[in-house]
Amino acid sequence: MRGEKTTENQDGEEWGRIDSTYRAFTGTNVHGEIIILDSMKKDLPRETVYAFNNNDTVATYDMDMDVWHPNRAKMASIVCEVLPFDKTENLSILDLGVGTGYLSHRVIEAFPHAKILAVDAAGLMIEGAKLRLKDHLEQVTFQTSTFQELPDKLNTLSNLDAVVSSLALHHLYSEEKLTLFKYIHSVLKPHGWFVNCDVFKTADAVLEARFRRLHYQGIQERTQKIKRQEKSLDQISSELFEKETKDGDHLLPLGEDLQLLVDAGFRTAECFWKEYREAVYGGIK
Ligand SMILES: C[S@@+](CC[C@H](N)C(=O)[O-])C[C@H]1O[C@@H](n2cnc3c(N)ncnc32)[C@H](O)[C@@H]1O
Repeated sequence: MRGEKTTENQDGEEWGRIDSTYRAFTGTNVHGEIIILDSMKKDLPRETVYAFNNNDTVATYDMDMDVWHPNRAKMASIVCEVLPFDKTENLSILDLGVGTGYLSHRVIEAFPHAKILAVDAAGLMIEGAKLRLKDHLEQVTFQTSTFQELPDKLNTLSNLDAVVSSLALHHLYSEEKLTLFKYIHSVLKPHGWFVNCDVFKTADAVLEARFRRLHYQGIQERTQKIKRQEKSLDQISSELFEKETKDGDHLLPLGEDLQLLVDAGFRTAECFWKEYREAVYGGIK
């Protein structure tokens, strides 16, 4: 494991360190597997920003997403389908975690007169989005910011028709999500919509293991098809574990996100689509 040693247990064994690559507080469990120590992690710089603000990540990002999240296209379709707007409307929409601009692009295709405010903490991902959205730059404003900073940085934002997000909010802890959901609620106009596509964990360990297994099998098939590479399920499982650690993933059960929406003041909180670990859900102000 790379990084600098930070602490030892009473037998003098090292049990955790700030990993200089992952920017997260990591340790090892009894099986020697790398684990993230949640209680320590919250006080540290957020690893998600470092993980995505990386040229190698951006270069292969969209191909990797085709391998890891083939439902990204389906989920974006649900977002565009469920939003009850007309193609001709001049909409104001906030995209949280724009990444390389996939969802914003789909939203602009569905609603060609929409103005998008595209937020992401990773400047290099935003550069990728500018390339994808090069024909629509007059209708997109980019803001480099963490979600956590938004209530301070964009405190005059209001009257939005919708807030959307895709595969970005699972990096937040639940208390951060509640703060963000309250912020989203505050920037929406009355009856405005929030729609989020994301990944979730299940409370049941057997189901979780089954969902993960299906996920790994899908990745194995697509790795073969898209990248022409053969990988064992064990290899995929450990690569994904490493990636989730590096990205700072913090999956919650879907029910918790829905409850957080209610707690944030949304009048509805509903799941629109779900397949195993992935779902599209949202709320109306
Ligand atoms: C998996 S990508 C999803 C990008 C895009 N929405 C898509 O569907 O392809 C997650 C994005 O969220 C951004 N992100 C992660 N944590 C963030 C945070 N706390 N604040 C702002 N952006 C964050 C990352 O920089 C990254 O671009």
